[in-house]
Amino acid sequence: MRKFLMTTALALTMSAGLATAAENVEVLHWWTSGGEAAALDVLKKDLESKGISWTDMPVAGGGGTEAMTVLRARVTAGNAPTAVQMLGFDILDWAKEGALGNLDDVASKEGWDKVIPAALQKFSKYDGHWIAAPVNVHSTNWLWINKAALDKAGGKEPQNWDELVAMLDNFKAQGITPIAAGGQPWQDATLFDAVVLSLGDDFYKKAFIDLDPEALGSDKMKEAFNRMTKLRSYVDDNFSGRDWNLASAMVIEGKAGVQFMGDWAKGEFVKAKKVPGQDFVCMRFPGTQGAVTFNSDQFAMFKIADDKVPAQLAMASAIENPTFQSAFNVVKGSAPARTDVPDTAFDACGKKAIADLADADKNGRLFGSMAHGHANPAAVKNAIYDVVTREFNGELSADDAVKELVSAVAAAK
Ligand code: GAL
Repeated sequence: MRKFLMTTALALTMSAGLATAAENVEVLHWWTSGGEAAALDVLKKDLESKGISWTDMPVAGGGGTEAMTVLRARVTAGNAPTAVQMLGFDILDWAKEGALGNLDDVASKEGWDKVIPAALQKFSKYDGHWIAAPVNVHSTNWLWINKAALDKAGGKEPQNWDELVAMLDNFKAQGITPIAAGGQPWQDATLFDAVVLSLGDDFYKKAFIDLDPEALGSDKMKEAFNRMTKLRSYVDDNFSGRDWNLASAMVIEGKAGVQFMGDWAKGEFVKAKKVPGQDFVCMRFPGTQGAVTFNSDQFAMFKIADDKVPAQLAMASAIENPTFQSAFNVVKGSAPARTDVPDTAFDACGKKAIADLADADKNGRLFGSMAHGHANPAAVKNAIYDVVTREFNGELSADDAVKELVSAVAAAK
């Protein structure tokens, strides 16, 4: 009897110990803008409702460059967070280093294989094992236009390059900044994603996915850089270094006509209580209709102390819950990471994002975003960033940019 009591007491203490440790997740992320924070809050509250508390580790900086630097330092110090917001090839790099945990049990119990698209699984799995939980799918080839400004310009959505230029000229004549831009390398690269895609699916694929030197050094690439130079002539004097969400605010407030940005920008419009079709217009970059350059935010799950693993698995499970997927992505501006989430709760732009994604996937027109780490590992991505930014800022001619692109990519491969 005494032995039984002692064993029971020990078991109770152990499970209590587990319960306490299981209650917390520490999450590293770069979701610090108004719209991003609102979306993150949906996740935080969902976990809190399940008895899991949240230790926040925000690292500001769109696109996550700074977050990845901080992460490296944390892991090197032997102090990895529970979960880390991460993009594409970065996840695979950490998996290669053996730093990530294993979500196979949750994934197989919940049937993730069947509902998460293969394009995402490519980055959520390593060596056949689940290592990350995808929370959304964003895409980068979008325009966010101020509706009143578009109406003044005749109301027609530009369907090709010439019509786009005509719209920008009209915005200029209206006395507003035609393009709301934030001069940061990842933002320049986001625009470049769309410009390159608008010159053809095949060109995008050859240049950014295959890293084909011929495509990288082609006349078409020169044309892409020339278009960047043209677009640069429509930004304001203070664009350099501006955060992307402040650029969104310029469109929201009618100070600028359009922003070229991934659909996280919609999170800012939604946060400002703006309505698609009424206050703003979302459309694909002219010439890219039907094609999608995507990136998916995933929570990479790091190897951590055993007693913290239950909370980590509970977080992964919560992220893939279909109800949560709808609630979160409505606020974030993204499409769900599962194919079985109804689009009912989404606004017109969200419905379009979901439909475009499914169509592009079906038609072989879905491509990983170069700018957001879904086309190449960080070394190549950063090499492309560097050339694109220098050209955009007038430090390189289009001719030289093409040459530099070929050699920079070759050196980084
Ligand atoms: C992207 C990320 C989005 C958004 C954006 C700006 O890389 O996928 O969720 O956060 O950066 O910060």
